[in-house]
Formats: sequence, C-alpha cells, structure tokens
Amino acid sequence: MVAILSVGATPVACEPAPGSYNITAAMAAPLITPRTRAVIAVHLYGHPADPTGLAALCAAHAVPLIEDAAQAHGATSQGHVLGSFGRIGCFSFYPTKNLEALRDGGAVVTSDDALAERLALLRNYGARDKYFTDLAGTNSRLDELQAAFLRAKLGSFATMCAQRRAIAARYLQELAGLPSLMLPGTPDGDAPVWHLFVVRNSRRDALRAYLADLGIATAVHYPVPIHRNTPFAAYAPTFETESDRISREVISLPFWPTLSDDRIDRICAAIRHSCLT
Ligand SMILES: Cc1ncc(COP(=O)(O)O)c(C=O)c1O
Repeated sequence: MVAILSVGATPVACEPAPGSYNITAAMAAPLITPRTRAVIAVHLYGHPADPTGLAALCAAHAVPLIEDAAQAHGATSQGHVLGSFGRIGCFSFYPTKNLEALRDGGAVVTSDDALAERLALLRNYGARDKYFTDLAGTNSRLDELQAAFLRAKLGSFATMCAQRRAIAARYLQELAGLPSLMLPGTPDGDAPVWHLFVVRNSRRDALRAYLADLGIATAVHYPVPIHRNTPFAAYAPTFETESDRISREVISLPFWPTLSDDRIDRICAAIRHSCLT
C-alpha cells in the first residue's frame, strides 16, 4: 500500500493513488527532494504500480527506481514485463508467491552490467574467488534444489497466470455492482497477474465473520500499513492516512490457480448476500 520513497537516513512513505493500492508518479512526485536516494515501488497484489510514470519521474530526477515485483512475476504494463522498468527488479520465490519454490528464494534483475556484477558478488560473501573477498557481502545464493524446482515450474507458469486472470475475471463479473464493495481496477495497458484478489468493504470484519461461518476462509493483506510498523513508526504521519483506512477495510478472497468456478460462485453468492442485507 505504502511504498518507501527514499532510502538512506530518512525513509519517506508515499500513499497509494486514490482507488488503488499502489503508488503512482503523481503521488510520488511531490515527495522527491534533492535528498531522495531511490524510489521503491511495490507492485502490490501483482498489479503494476505505474511503472512507466515512475521510471520517467526517476529519470527526470536522476534517482534509481527499484521495483519490488515479489508479487508480480509475469505481470506487464504497456507490453513490458514488470521488473524491467527500474534500475533493478526484485522477485520473491517464497512458497506463497506466484512462482514459488519449496523454501525461501528470490532473484534480482537488472540491465546494468556493473550492478549485476556487484550483486553477484554481494550474494556470495563478496567473493570473486574462493577465500578472496572484494566486498563485505552475505550468503544469499539460490539453493540449487530450489533452482531446479523453479525451472521445472516455469513450464506451467504461463498456464497458472492465465488461470489467475480467469479467476479474477469471474470474481469481477460476479461481484460487480455491489454498492459497499470496492473491486480492484485495472488501468488501460496493464496486465496484472493477480497474486491476490483483494476487495474493500467498510464492514470488513463483519463480512469476514459471515464468510467464516460458511466455511469460507479469507485473509487480510495487510492489517498494519508499513509506516505503522516499529522500524518506520518514527517517520509516520500522526494523522490517519488512506493506507490506515485501507488496512481496516481490505479482504483477500480465496484465490489460487485451480479454484473452481463452483467455488467462486458460492463465495460470490455469500458476499452478495452479506453486502445486500
Ligand atoms: C511485496 C513483497 N515484497 C517483498 C517480500 C519479501 O520477499 P522474501 O520473503 O522472498 O524476501 C514479500 C514477501 O512476502 C512481498 O510480498
């Protein structure tokens, strides 16, 4: 929801655009100062966070754009895959992600050869050759078994993206027009990959309880906006932000690539009933 705009001494939180869960260039622009070191854009729930606009904004201010595409493998905007707009794109292969390993894993992508070389060093103790370190690095190599598993999964990845899009389309169709339910929108030119299907309702907890009574499990992503978490609390505004309201109102509906039409229809019927009574 909120993205951190500036790394370094003072993180600056940027609110999402109205009606969205992502930041945009318009929301970030007023926050950029000569002290801004980078803009970190999270493509939340698999939806593009205005990558064209943010890349242009960052270029105009000569600051790098870092894309957090942990939830957005394969999503595109204006025909370009997310992770390719910024100086660096970051992906997670954690077991809940769209492209998932059996344990932790991740990857960063960049078109900057020097940065790629530096990152490759950093993930391997900073060592170019065994026992000789050039940089103070860490051990962050992708485990080979996880890499083999991910490679096998790549074969079905496009199918799973298509399944996610079909499920999202069915939810959108079945839940359209409910006055108290805000559905996710997709700007023209964006092709999200629907990591989650998140709706917004001002009586969120009552709706969740009603669904739970029917055996329909839901979740909340995320109950605490990032700027209310301890490490960033000192930089958080004292007034209520849109992200605070979003955190109180969002519900993640059941969502996985093989979710059947029957189950979607049952879930949607329950939501309609709850929202209309
Ligand atoms: C948007 C986003 N960014 C970053 C991360 C962190 O990914 P990892 O746990 O692979 O480091 C996650 C994982 O939950 C995420 O959803």
